[in-house]
Amino acid sequence: MKILEKGIVVSNFEKARNLHFMEIRVPKISGLVKPGNFVSLLPPASSGAFLRRPFSVAGTGDESLKLVIRDIGKATHAITSLRDGDAIDVLGALGNSYPDFEPDKKIWLLGGGTGIASLLFLYGVHNNPDDRILWGGKCAKELPETSECTLATDDGSCGECGNVVEVTRRWLASDKPDYIVACGPRGLLKGVQQLASEYNISAWMSCEEFMACGMGACAGCAVPLAAGGYARVCADGPVFKAEEVVL
Ligand SMILES: Cc1cc2nc3c(=O)[nH]c(=O)nc-3n(C[C@H](O)[C@H](O)[C@H](O)COP(=O)(O)OP(=O)(O)OC[C@H]3O[C@@H](n4cnc5c(N)ncnc54)[C@H](O)[C@@H]3O)c2cc1C
Ligand code: FES
Repeated sequence: MKILEKGIVVSNFEKARNLHFMEIRVPKISGLVKPGNFVSLLPPASSGAFLRRPFSVAGTGDESLKLVIRDIGKATHAITSLRDGDAIDVLGALGNSYPDFEPDKKIWLLGGGTGIASLLFLYGVHNNPDDRILWGGKCAKELPETSECTLATDDGSCGECGNVVEVTRRWLASDKPDYIVACGPRGLLKGVQQLASEYNISAWMSCEEFMACGMGACAGCAVPLAAGGYARVCADGPVFKAEEVVL
C-alpha cells in the first residue's frame, strides 16, 4: 500500500563526508515498510528540483524511517540541509522487498556507498549473529565509524583493502554463506552476480537505477531480463534474484 504523508525530520547528522543519516517521523508509512522498500521524497521547493527522488529505507524507529543519504546534487543537498522539525513530503512504501529469509540461515550483506541502506534494515530484521555486513567505499572519508559493518576501502585507508567483490572473494576462501544480498553501483552488482554463480550461492540484489516517474509509467528505469524483455526497477523491483537481471 502506498501512502503520501507529511514527514517531520527527527534527526539529521553528517556521519561522513556528504553522507547523512536522517530519521523522519511518518507514523503511517513506518508501519508498512519492509527491508528492500524505498520511499520517494519531494525535495523542498527552494531547491529547484521538482521531481520526487527515491531513497531506500535503512531502518525504522519510533513511528519513523531511517535513511542514509549522500549529498550529490540539487535534491539531495536540499534534503540533507533540512533541520530537526522541518517537514518533508514522503510517499511510500514503494517497490518490492527482500524475501523473508529463514532465521537460521547465514546471509552476507554486501553494500557499496549508499547501497548499504536497505542492507542495514535487513541486517537488523534478520538479526542472526552469523550474518556479515560489508560496506565498501573509495576511502575512509566516505565511510562513517560503525560497529555493525565491516568496512572496505579501495585505497585501504580504513577497514579491509579492496573493493567489495575482492574482499568477498577473500572471505569465500574460508567460509560460505547460505545467501548473498547486495546493493550498490552496477560494477559491484555485476561482480557479486559472478561470485554467486561461481560459488553456487543464491543471491538477491537491489538495483538503484535512475528513475523518472517512479510509478511504473515511463520505463525510464528499465533493466534487461535474462529471460528476455525488461523489468521496471520502480514497479517490479528494486529487488531481483541475481540471475534474473542482465547487468
Ligand atoms: C531504488 C533507489 C534507491 C535509492 N536509495 C538511495 C539511498 O538510500 N541513499 C542515497 O543517497 N541515494 C539513493 N538513491 C539515489 C538517489 O535517488 C539519487 O542520488 C538522487 O535522486 C540524486 O538527486 P540529486 O538531485 O541530488 O542529484 P542529481 O543532480 O539528479 O544527480 C547528481 C549526480 O548523481 C548521479 N545520480 C543521480 N541519481 C543516481 C542514481 N540513481 N544512480 C547513480 N547515479 C546517480 C547523476 O548522474 C549526477 O551525476 C536511490 C535510487 C534508487 C533508484
Ligand atoms: S521510473 Fe518511470 S517506470 Fe520506473
